Amino acid sequence: MSQVVTYAREGSVGVITVNNPPVNALSQAVRQGLRDCLKQGQADADAKVLMILGAGRTFIAGADIREFGKPPQEPNLPDVIAEMEQSEKVVVAAIHGTALGGGLEVCLGTHYRVAVPSARVGLPEVKLGLLPGAGGTQRLPRLTGPEAALEIMTTGRFVPAKEALKLGIIDHIAEQEDVREAGLAYAEKLAAEGAKPRSVSEMNDKLEAAKKDRNVFDKARASLEKTARGQFSPFRIVDCVEAAVDLPFAEGMKKERELFKQCMDSPQRAGMIHAFFAEREAAKLPDVTKDTPRREIKSVGIIGAGTMGGGIAMNFVNVGIPVKLLEVKQDALDKGLAVIRRNYENTAKKGRISKDDVEKRMGLIEGTLSYDDFAGVDLVIEAVFESMDIKKQVFTKLDEVCKPGAILATNTSTLDVNEIASVTKRPEDVVGMHFFSPANVMKLLENVRGEKTSPEVIATVMDLSKRIKKVGVCVGVCHGFVGNRMLHQRQSQAMALVDDGATPWQVDKVIYDFGFPMGPFAMSDLAGLDVGYRIREERRKAGDPKAQELTWTDKLVEQGRHGQKTGAGVYLYEEGNRKGKPDPEVEALIEQHRKEKGITPREISDQEILERNLYIMINEGAKILEEGIALRSSDIDVIYLYGYGFPAYRGGPMFYADQVGVKTVYDKVVEFQERFGDDWKPAPLLERLAREGGKFGDL
Ligand code: 3HC
Ligand code: NAI
Repeated sequence: MSQVVTYAREGSVGVITVNNPPVNALSQAVRQGLRDCLKQGQADADAKVLMILGAGRTFIAGADIREFGKPPQEPNLPDVIAEMEQSEKVVVAAIHGTALGGGLEVCLGTHYRVAVPSARVGLPEVKLGLLPGAGGTQRLPRLTGPEAALEIMTTGRFVPAKEALKLGIIDHIAEQEDVREAGLAYAEKLAAEGAKPRSVSEMNDKLEAAKKDRNVFDKARASLEKTARGQFSPFRIVDCVEAAVDLPFAEGMKKERELFKQCMDSPQRAGMIHAFFAEREAAKLPDVTKDTPRREIKSVGIIGAGTMGGGIAMNFVNVGIPVKLLEVKQDALDKGLAVIRRNYENTAKKGRISKDDVEKRMGLIEGTLSYDDFAGVDLVIEAVFESMDIKKQVFTKLDEVCKPGAILATNTSTLDVNEIASVTKRPEDVVGMHFFSPANVMKLLENVRGEKTSPEVIATVMDLSKRIKKVGVCVGVCHGFVGNRMLHQRQSQAMALVDDGATPWQVDKVIYDFGFPMGPFAMSDLAGLDVGYRIREERRKAGDPKAQELTWTDKLVEQGRHGQKTGAGVYLYEEGNRKGKPDPEVEALIEQHRKEKGITPREISDQEILERNLYIMINEGAKILEEGIALRSSDIDVIYLYGYGFPAYRGGPMFYADQVGVKTVYDKVVEFQERFGDDWKPAPLLERLAREGGKFGDL
């Protein structure tokens, strides 16, 4: 008998406990254990009802992802679930924590489902490039109807117990949180009532309406064209649910198996599972263990209530951590607070939080003009103008007023964190926390570790990232850190491609079709073309020879075209429309610009656009790795997935390089160096991996 699943009887209930920490994943041993314990329960004459529950913090969180890509081992999960469904004794699932993927599919194979109030259920396979492959696509629609099932499976969201009850996924919510007691009470009640087994696979009522009206599937596919562009598995989920409606259960199961296998074999599955583990890996630092002390963060001070400061404040109050928000002038403070309130009110209008929540959250933010109010806070995040002089003044002041042990963080996007730390007497307490705009929305947080930042401080900040629902990645100090440093390279290639003969729309389309939410020029219109212009103006004034000539986007700025905010930039924006239109005037300006530079434009292929945009980033990523600015290539992937909308199904830029082949990338980089100069100088690491036939993922 397997150790990870055990059988014991309590009263008239045969209790099957899955104990496979940390999340009770359905490894081969668990599948075998479930099968064995079910048999034991059938044979136990004193057991009237059987009950399955998870030990530890959760029910079963799904198939064991680490087994994917390896040869499948018996017994397979759909068979175990079928045996459970066919059991002559009633089988009950008692759910706490999360019942996800194969875990929820186990529940759907039982005859009754009870959950504790905090439990959540879901079929998140789509987030791994998969579809539910143990009957989920066939059984869930039988309980909820096709429409709700499609929504749940194509988003992969976690459904709270209360909603799961309403949708018919579970049968009962216990009053208490103790799952064992809750499950036993429910199972005993069923035993006393003489409840009979009932199979979800035989419940067909909710499928009837969809048999006559295909609208639900048309609608689902049309909506996925927008939300899941380029992805494989969400569309296969719709195919499976359609099969559930059209075919008898057994045939629907066959269809599910076939499409599950197609998903499993797709490169998208590999990319998304890489992303899953990369995100978890990023949280681990070599010199930080679970014994490294963490500092308690119970209150936060934020300096600057502008674009970033306001958004940063929201992250903390959203999870109940009070914030003191400091500005230099009352009107700037009032303006900043008003923006935050408006944001919350808009969220409330959409029904995502209540009016009460708005007031509660606003109540946790205290505006101030005085640093004295920062004496007691545990963490300060500075988000003032991007100027070294101002940041140094701010940190000198913080060093004076903050209590010993307070963490002093900067949200700078380009400045040297070590230099900022140097004005304090406690550089070990100084760290970068580089949020991305809009800071209340974007999931990425680059935590910048300075030369002297202590392990304790970086550990605290990494843990805190998760607490405020961000994905924290630890990076070292350099200009632009990881994300923007690589992006800067892509942006200069995009510009060079247009100089050489491409149109901005062609460049954007290639990048968009690759799977990014927008191309480089749509992105610079969003950020404002004037931002880059001002930086180049500074460099021109400082005599930088590379910045003397105006770029064609600088010429646009000088015509007042600053991007979306002025209604025109690279694109033209019609009133109220955030999607720009290509503009012949811009093409004329670019043509003139080429003439002035003596460039004869040439036809540029989409392939060249893709390679120059991506390979320049990969080459920079290799340099970043060599310099130790990022700890592992998967950290760079996480940064691109969560900070820049790199398509998750491609796994991130470094994973993509491994898929294409490092040698292929390197050969192109060498070719581009010959054609376009030393911006393309290959990183020694790229060269070495290409020579050795290595991969970034194996470093
Ligand atoms: N298989 C293997 N390992 C898993 C796992 C799984 N399904 N789910 C989580 N883990 C591991 C994580 O890698 C992590 O390992 P580490 O400590 O070595 O880094 C550990 O469990 C804890 O995970 P988290 O750090 O994510 O813990 P949280 O408490 O934040 O979250 C969770 C828990 C909500 C369960 C989250 O881990 C999660 O979403 N897991 C994936 C669930 C999922 O996608 N299930 C579907 C699998 S596919 C499937 O079931 C196919 C079926 O249809 C046939
Ligand atoms: P912003 O101009 O919108 O806001 C800055 C705020 O700081 C203003 O409200 C200003 O009144 C206040 N301020 C200036 N000096 C101050 C001082 N001495 N004391 C208190 N308050 C002061 O600027 P934004 O965009 O919010 O940027 C802030 C920081 O965040 C910069 O370092 C920037 O590089 C960084 N950043 C910006 C991102 C963005 O996309 N806007 C993204 C990531 C980081």
